[in-house]
This record gives sequence, structure tokens and C-alpha cells, in this order.
Amino acid sequence: MVKALDNPNPHYREGAAELLLGGGFFRRDSRPARDCSVLLAWHQASATTRAHSLQWLDLMAGCGIRGLRWGLEAASASPVPAEILVNDADGDRRPLLDHNLRSVAAATCSSVSAERLLCEAQLEGRRFDLIDLDASGHPGALIQPSLQVLAPDGILVLASTDGRSPTGHDRPGAIRSFGAAARAHPASWELALRQQLGLLARQAWLLGRGIQPLLSFSNGRTFRLAIRLTRQLQAGEESQLGLLARCAACGSQQRQPLLYLRNWPPCHCPPEQGRWAISGPLWLGPLQQIDLLEELMASHVPVAPATRRLLQRLQADPGGLGCVWSTAELARRCGSGPPTLQRLVAALQAKGHQAWPSGVMAGQVRTDADLPELLQICSNLRREGPLIDSSTI
Ligand SMILES: C[S@@+](CC[C@H](N)C(=O)[O-])C[C@H]1O[C@@H](n2cnc3c(N)ncnc32)[C@H](O)[C@@H]1O
Ligand SMILES: [Zn+2]
Repeated sequence: MVKALDNPNPHYREGAAELLLGGGFFRRDSRPARDCSVLLAWHQASATTRAHSLQWLDLMAGCGIRGLRWGLEAASASPVPAEILVNDADGDRRPLLDHNLRSVAAATCSSVSAERLLCEAQLEGRRFDLIDLDASGHPGALIQPSLQVLAPDGILVLASTDGRSPTGHDRPGAIRSFGAAARAHPASWELALRQQLGLLARQAWLLGRGIQPLLSFSNGRTFRLAIRLTRQLQAGEESQLGLLARCAACGSQQRQPLLYLRNWPPCHCPPEQGRWAISGPLWLGPLQQIDLLEELMASHVPVAPATRRLLQRLQADPGGLGCVWSTAELARRCGSGPPTLQRLVAALQAKGHQAWPSGVMAGQVRTDADLPELLQICSNLRREGPLIDSSTI
């Protein structure tokens, strides 16, 4: 019997689950990530018309909380309850997993390495409709084997705690892990998510499949996303892979799909003085599926208030078109305090631009306006009144 089972005050409650945490890895503050995993399972279960069970895999389960919550909060939404495989390589956790999952009849526990489990599933021709890969570090080597056993239209929920390489702080690491250049950028969390999505897209394309990002978010420590593996590439999907350039001197940004790559236009520095720092290839397309987020927000899955706020933020930002700008940087460049995000978005929209508050990082705006116009609008806003915005501080 593992120590956790003897703990006098062991019970932890989350959603509909009550379980033992054990002595291994567990973060209470990752609740929004777990809620999203359960919401996506619920979405899949409520959408299916299949007469046989969906197959769900919690590949790096820790104490088994995701599989347990899937079983209690999502599985009954489908006509036939999903079969759930809950795995963690750490054999010492097995009694804990068996104990925590005992109330879910359709759950099986295993204690093998993710590499072996995926390889055996491939050999057996087994397919999963939902895989949650909650890795510590970079999950790179597990992406291709996971995609190979993910059914068409299946969902992959992916976490990575490698923040250094995709944000430009370990450039050789970015080449090794992503096959991409990564340069420092004020929207660093978003770039890390786009690097990860770019890698996923290339891995899926090798299999003749496409990807549709469902949601993407980060707290700066862990980079989380969920994608649907589509049966085929969407028309023009290859043009979602591209490069993002930024001049650190003047702050200009440009993006180009690899498919139509040509010379970069000049930035806004005096002639010969600007220098583009280029990141990519990375995903240029949407980060979220907005109508899915609306559906998830309307579900009865018991999510935390922080998760509700996260979903609202993501739902208000399609995360596609244009570049993302830090309002603090814009303020520095036009010599004022940061403009309020809401007023800046409204002013950009009034000028006919598309603009949203970024759902990924606070105090950032996503827009198709270019830098001179952005700076002009910020200066105009400063003249119109004080610029105080707690969300940018
Ligand atoms: C980040 S924790 C999982 C947390 C859990 N998903 C949650 O929501 O609380 C990662 C887990 O992966 C397990 N693990 C690490 N490497 C693994 C591998 N190669 N195969 C399977 N499990 C692995 C560890 O034992 C650890 O429990
Ligand atoms: Zn420049």
C-alpha cells in the first residue's frame, strides 16, 4: 500500500471527483488545465453518435485525476460510456491509481512508459479519440507516436513546461526541439504556443492529416493547447505555417507564410539601420475555435471560476489575424503611460481595423494596424485623457 493511502487527511475534491493525491506530482493551481481537459471530453462525448465506446487515454496521469473526472463528469454524455485508460510510468503510483479510479467501471489503469504504451497501441491497431499528454519538460518525442494512435477527428490535449527554447532564451534548444528559430518577443507566451502548434501541424501533415487548434493558453510556466486531428488538411492549411519578424530597434512586426515567402519589406527604422529578428516556422493561424469555446462555457461540467475567466478571455480573442503588441511597449515608444486596452481596441476598431485584447497575455492587443498607426492612435488617446488600466500593470 502506498504512503498516500495511509495519509490521515488525504482527500482532495475537484469537480465531481474526490480522491487521494499521493506523494507524487500534483499542482492544485493547474485546475483550469484539468477543467479544459474534462470540458473537451464532455464535448466529444456529447457530440458523438457512435454505437460503440469512445476511447480516452490519460497518458501521464499522476494521481489519475483527469481520468477520474472524465469518468464522473464527461463519459455519461455519450450514448455508450467512454472506455478510459489511465497510465503513469511510475509503478509506485499504481495502488493509488487503482484506488482513485475504483468508482469508474469503464476505467483501466496501467503503469508503463508512454513510449511503450503508444508503440503497443500502434502495433495492435488501437486508436484513441482523446489523448491527454500532460508532460513535464518538452513532449516532442511523444508527439508523432501520439498522433499515430489518435483517431481521425480525435483530440490531443498537450502540455509542455519547456518555456526557454520557444521564447528565444535557448536558441539552440529551439532548433533541436522545434526545428525553428526562436527570438525574444514581447508576446513570448503566444510565440511559444505558436511554435508548439507549428511542430504539431508538421507532424500531423506527415500523416496526411490536418490540425485545428481548439484552445491555447499559458501562465508563462506551462504551455497548454488542444487540437483536433482532422481527417485531411483544410484547404490552404499549409499557408498557416510561416515566419514572424520583429525589429527590436523600432518595434515593427511582419509575418509571412512560408508558402509565399519573399523579401522582407523595410521596417520603420532609418534606412540601413533596422534588423529583423525572425522566429519560425511557427503556426500563424487561429489559436482557438471560438464556437467550441462558447459551447464549453454553456456546459454543466463544474469548472473553477478561474477556468470560466480563462474561457471568457480566450473566447473574446480568435487569436488569428494580425500581430500582437504589448501596450507597455507602445506606451514606451510614444512616451506616455500604457493606453487602456479597452480604449485602444475601441479606437482601432473605430478606425476600421480589426482589434481584440489578447486572450493569451494581459495588456496586449491583437490587430491588423501597423506600427505608425498604432503609435498615432496611442498618442491621440493620451491627448484625450488619463490612461489608467489595471490589466496592463
Ligand atoms: C505533470 S505530471 C501529471 C499530472 C496529472 N496529469 C495532473 O493533472 O495532475 C506527469 C506524470 O507523468 C509521469 N511520467 C513521466 N514520464 C513518463 C513517461 N515517459 N511515461 C508515462 N508517464 C510518465 C510522471 O510519473 C508524472 O506522474
Ligand atoms: Zn526597425
